[in-house]
Amino acid sequence: MTSTRIAVTGVLGRMGRLVTALAEEAGCVVVAALERDEHPQLGQSLAALGVLEPDAAGAEVPLGALSQGFAEQGVDVCIDFTLPAAFTTVLAACRQAGCSLVSGTTGLDASQEALLDEAAGEIPVLHATNFSLGVALLAQLSRLAAVALDEGYEIEIVEAHHGRKVDAPSGTAKTLAQTVAEARDQHLDKVARHGREGQLGTRSREEIGVHAVRGGSVVGEHTVHFLGPDERLELTHRAASREIFVRGALRCARWMAGKPPRRYTVAEVIAPNQPG
Ligand SMILES: NC(=O)c1ccc[n+]([C@@H]2O[C@H](COP(=O)([O-])OP(=O)(O)OC[C@H]3O[C@@H](n4cnc5c(N)ncnc54)[C@H](OP(=O)(O)O)[C@@H]3O)[C@@H](O)[C@H]2O)c1
Repeated sequence: MTSTRIAVTGVLGRMGRLVTALAEEAGCVVVAALERDEHPQLGQSLAALGVLEPDAAGAEVPLGALSQGFAEQGVDVCIDFTLPAAFTTVLAACRQAGCSLVSGTTGLDASQEALLDEAAGEIPVLHATNFSLGVALLAQLSRLAAVALDEGYEIEIVEAHHGRKVDAPSGTAKTLAQTVAEARDQHLDKVARHGREGQLGTRSREEIGVHAVRGGSVVGEHTVHFLGPDERLELTHRAASREIFVRGALRCARWMAGKPPRRYTVAEVIAPNQPG
């Protein structure tokens, strides 16, 4: 089976390094590696940077500048784990190369989401705030519980991450909040309550609380609480390592190569016959 040719943006970041390290066993080969234009190590090979050994033929992948793109390298899929500030440039590079985009960058704003929709008219796009299969299932179970348990069961979402995470709440917590709000025909903007302090009055039934805990080495934890009369249901996912996200993203990259342009979801990759 031929390998999927991937470009890795933010290749020297925590996630980018893992994508590169696990690519081969997932059936992918790194053919382009990108960092910001001002990066001091541009032009050095990934081998010299200690990130990727040369291939059997001795070919090395140099660290390229993101704005230069990767149109010449025959890339099938770009795997992107960077920050929102890089996102417009990542998208432009994918459109120029005509390749698929698998992005896990969190904290995108509404205008960047709109850009993704626009790009999906031209290239296949899969953006997910969490590539773990367990979290995909947590979202489905939460949707089910939000409908099965009526509004007497109040919903609060609590997430925890290491202290180096720069955005809050996590993209996954936002996705879970959106999922349960939609399941109850609510507009999240109207019902979301981010943290609580002071004399707020009593909780309204339709509120969806979202809370972020930061510290230590927590890879990522999400609990959706359904707090009812005399009982509570808690659905929890705990990530033990970042590898689950990277393996999920690589599996998505294999699946996304050569797909027709549109937006895709992780749920479709897990169960291709299910709607996203
Ligand atoms: N969807 C998921 O399953 C999932 C799981 C884990 C993490 N994430 C997300 O993945 C992203 C990366 O996480 P991480 O822990 O790997 O972060 P990280 O270690 O800080 O790496 C981020 C990488 O992006 C680069 N970058 C940042 N701003 C840039 C810009 N304006 N232009 C070009 N490159 C830029 C950084 O380069 P510099 O060092 O030069 O800034 C670095 O190489 C975050 O958004 C995180 O929330 C998603």
